[in-house]
Amino acid sequence: MRQITIALAKGRLAEKAIEILDKCGVDCAPLKKDTRKLVLYDGEGKYRFIFVKPADVPTYIERGAADMGVVGKDTLLEESKDIYEMLDLKFGACAMCVAGFADKNNSITQNKLRVASKYVRVAKDYYASKGIDVDIIKLTGSVELGPVIGLTDVIVDIVESGKTLEANGLVVLEEICKLSARLVVNKVSLKTKKDEVLPLVNKISEIVEGR
Ligand code: PRP
Repeated sequence: MRQITIALAKGRLAEKAIEILDKCGVDCAPLKKDTRKLVLYDGEGKYRFIFVKPADVPTYIERGAADMGVVGKDTLLEESKDIYEMLDLKFGACAMCVAGFADKNNSITQNKLRVASKYVRVAKDYYASKGIDVDIIKLTGSVELGPVIGLTDVIVDIVESGKTLEANGLVVLEEICKLSARLVVNKVSLKTKKDEVLPLVNKISEIVEGR
């Protein structure tokens, strides 16, 4: 059996992904140890796990440095790589939204709507689809500060519990799309490592669907 490399997005999604792999019979005990190692192996050495920044997961998969991976749909939309999205893993549910002050019209101070976002491509595509010309300002985090500090009129960001918006006096103005974690696969690996990749994809699907 050929070893499969699985890229996991460090942070919120990795923990849940490991839980599912555990249920699939993958010995994930070595992954639960408190370590700063970025490459780890399951107990049987069938799988190699790499822990990468969420935004880099699609790159590792597209380039074949990893065969499979778990990443949020938000990252897939933003990175737009040539990879297979195999399964909706149904965890990490949240939504991509436009948010701002409840009375948006009062907050618009310039002709062009100013939008702060970590998701520049998503924001650009969304407003282009509506035919609205916007000024997108890329931020790498704490995006809610945009409207609060007057840098922008609105933000395009993910909303999970809504607590960050609420704590900063902002509300959801428009929902762009629903998001959740996805299982992704390298296009070549699906052919060349079919016997290793497909059974795991099927097992994960069974667990996710509760079968
Ligand atoms: C994300 C997102 C929001 C927040 C939403 O940020 O960008 O700020 O979580 O979650 P909530 O609706 O449950 O409050 P993250 O925690 O990844 O940090 P960041 O601002 O540094 O990107």
